[in-house]
Amino acid sequence: MTPLLTLEEVDTYYGAIHILQKVSLHVNEGELVCLLGGNACGKSTTLKTALGMVSPKVGKITFAGEDVTKKNTSHRVKMGIAVVPENRRLFGPMTVLENLKIGAYVRGEADPVDLERVFELFPKLKDRQSQLAGTLSGGEQQMVAVGRALMSRPRLLLMDEPSMGLSPRLVEQSFEMIAGLHAQGISMLVVEQNANMALSVADRGYVLQTGRIVLEGAAGDLAGHDELRRAYLGR
Ligand SMILES: Nc1ncnc2c1ncn2[C@@H]1O[C@H](COP(=O)(O)OP(=O)(O)O)[C@@H](O)[C@H]1O
Ligand SMILES: [Mg+2]
Repeated sequence: MTPLLTLEEVDTYYGAIHILQKVSLHVNEGELVCLLGGNACGKSTTLKTALGMVSPKVGKITFAGEDVTKKNTSHRVKMGIAVVPENRRLFGPMTVLENLKIGAYVRGEADPVDLERVFELFPKLKDRQSQLAGTLSGGEQQMVAVGRALMSRPRLLLMDEPSMGLSPRLVEQSFEMIAGLHAQGISMLVVEQNANMALSVADRGYVLQTGRIVLEGAAGDLAGHDELRRAYLGR
């Protein structure tokens, strides 16, 4: 089986600063993969590299069997990669509905069928579609960010720290939602600091420490692994 996304020995720099070092990972069709690691270890940079927002100096990125290393973000989004960015990044002065419709722009007009599917997943958003996104609670903003990403009918969903800034109850709800999307067959790469939560829903995981993958394996094997604790504490 060809993996949906692969990063092969990727090295990414910001100017002279070497961030990602020989990072290799893959996501198979239908898989939920988590990328774990403490603050500033390069998790967001990995997602940005996958999306083409930063270019690796060395290494190869493929999506759906195509070498996309030299392709820009817009090409990759059109191919079916969608992102729920760190801190959701909604358009605060625009309504919930407008934010959702923006997610469909790569496909042209928003399809009412897709909109209905998002409202089915998040009934609360249907009631609040004319509310300004900036006035929603953190949990509701996350529903909009996920809904916006789903509007493009992505083949792969990248999520950057979905638990960030949410209360423990909402973190739990958020991971229930992620498990629900996984059950629908959506392929996902979820970046998280909350290792326990992420591993409780993921199929596989990778652990990043200062720009290097130090551990990888089945989610069940990673939970409670000594190296996982070391990666978080030994910085
Ligand atoms: N645009 C940038 N320019 C320079 N350094 C950056 C930039 N973005 C991130 N960094 C640095 O790269 C490292 C990894 O950042 P990031 O990938 O955002 O980490 P994480 O998401 O794991 O917290 C950090 O030290 C951060 O300060
Ligand atoms: Mg980050």
